[in-house]
Amino acid sequence: MCGIVGYIGNNNSVDYLLNGLKSLEYRGYDSAGLALIENNRINLIKSVGKVQALEDKLSNLSTSSTIGIAHTRWATHGKPTDENSHPHLDCKKEIAIVHNGIIENYLTLKKELIEKGHIFKSETDTEVIVHLLEEELSNITNNYEENLIKSVNIINKKLKGSYALNIIWSKTPDIIIGTRIKAPLLIGAYDDCNFFASDISAFIKYTDQVIYLDDYDVAVLKKDSIKLYDANNNEKYFNKITVDKNVNEATKNGLEHFMLKEIREQPHTVMATIESILENIDNAFGINLMDIKSVKNVLLIGCGTAYHAALVAKYWIEEFAGVPTQAELASEYKYRKIAQTDETLAVFISQSGETADTVAALEKAKLSGFKTVAICNVYSSTISRIADYTFFTKCGPEISVASTKAFTAQLASLFALSILIGKANKSLDDKDVIKLIRELSLIPKSIENIINDEKSIEGIAKKYYTEKSYIFLGRNVNYPIALEAALKLKEITYFQAEGFAAGEIKHGPIAMIEENTPVFSIMGYDSVYDKMLNASQEVIARGANVIAITDKEGNQHMIADIVDRIVIDNTPQYLSPILNIVALQLFAYHVAKLNGREIDQPRNLAKSVTVE
Ligand code: G6P
Repeated sequence: MCGIVGYIGNNNSVDYLLNGLKSLEYRGYDSAGLALIENNRINLIKSVGKVQALEDKLSNLSTSSTIGIAHTRWATHGKPTDENSHPHLDCKKEIAIVHNGIIENYLTLKKELIEKGHIFKSETDTEVIVHLLEEELSNITNNYEENLIKSVNIINKKLKGSYALNIIWSKTPDIIIGTRIKAPLLIGAYDDCNFFASDISAFIKYTDQVIYLDDYDVAVLKKDSIKLYDANNNEKYFNKITVDKNVNEATKNGLEHFMLKEIREQPHTVMATIESILENIDNAFGINLMDIKSVKNVLLIGCGTAYHAALVAKYWIEEFAGVPTQAELASEYKYRKIAQTDETLAVFISQSGETADTVAALEKAKLSGFKTVAICNVYSSTISRIADYTFFTKCGPEISVASTKAFTAQLASLFALSILIGKANKSLDDKDVIKLIRELSLIPKSIENIINDEKSIEGIAKKYYTEKSYIFLGRNVNYPIALEAALKLKEITYFQAEGFAAGEIKHGPIAMIEENTPVFSIMGYDSVYDKMLNASQEVIARGANVIAITDKEGNQHMIADIVDRIVIDNTPQYLSPILNIVALQLFAYHVAKLNGREIDQPRNLAKSVTVE
């Protein structure tokens, strides 16, 4: 995982590097560090904790270095300590590298390097790279730049795994080298300076000219030139792309947390997403109706929250289009044998468009010859560039690690896709389509009503926030919402929270119920209302406190034993997940706040998981 940034130009590099790291902190925030070249020596500064801790440490540093590389870490190998923080140095402290990814054969390489006399300072997989490079460069006495490029190509053949690297060497004080294999790395090109970064957010303030590296490219940045080499050291041609510079700086709008701001934005983000679909519904997902008509299977793939969106959409596609649909965890899809199916539409759902497991699953689906569509929130992201077509949700930047507005926008998009498949294969007629779209268009207003009712949800949070264990029950389309609500709560409160299909509790989970266990029952007045009442009564009989997430109709039929109720607008059952989750996001937020958690950057997590 991790974020990397490199700067070379005429100005002091530290501010550029720190700004870049702050934009990349969503990729991990266990530690941060940077390495500069000054007077032909490497200057290394690193600190455990967030980028702010590094910035504090740097406040006393006086430097005029115009070249540096920097890193914000999500720990994979070795605890978040100063030693394990990046950049890492070779034994002679002449080479510094930062790394995003995982080196799978690092143990074998480390053993060999130790036998050759290299001294390791960290527990990381990364450190083998810098010692390998040291080994390659040990006898070089001239043509430093050329030999450095050749050496990087040699170590690219020795390393196994996925990685993006930035490298500086004190003997080549006017260049930064970057290379990548299955991990993102791009170049930001400007008139008198150049950048490397894991994504454009790290340099978009300064330049919109971007060069994407291919796997095995070796790029050489000078302050006023860029060169790319292939794996055989031959210089290669590259394209510069102009990206949309209009990426708003994300601010909290005066609120305490991005998460709250993002929850409250949902009436607008869902509406903007729906409007963007309706602009050209038949072609919104890039595949024309004739092609969709022939689809015989749908595969929905994602991780975390995006996977929960996939689970909901499975119900929709089977209901509206009658097409067999599977929802898959990207991390599982890659490592199992897949039965080859004809006419499969594979849909990849990812807020960031960078999740390594989802990227890997997408590559596998493409090899199987499936039509691929991505639903992403970030322009120019890796997934959006690989998929045959991408629909972009219109959420704007989602900063809080726990995903909220991206989820509801994914749901709105998948609902529209389900309608489109049903329309194409004639499971739905024009009247059905119009009715469903109209119902979807009413959703933003009902989300707004939930947000206006935040005080009562906060009141329920105040009643339960000292509990350490929570259960969420749902059925049918709201079973995945039980899973997502539990995920939200555990991500930001660190409490135990489990979501179950309500029909399953009697097969085991009911054993967990103790006196006063809070059990959230998602029960609109729909086809499973009575079943949800049964499940609720079964847990009440064993001492649980049931909190109902219901609609106005359901509230009227509610049993007196269920005192705590979050009441949302009446809406068709199939659309209720988009509303229910908003209420439960607010509940999770307030429990976390009352417990004093670090809501936007919860411990151990990262927003974009770029390692498998
Ligand atoms: C991480 C984030 C989750 C997110 C998941 C998938 O685990 O913490 O919030 O749901 O990755 O991310 P993606 O960007 O692919 O939607």
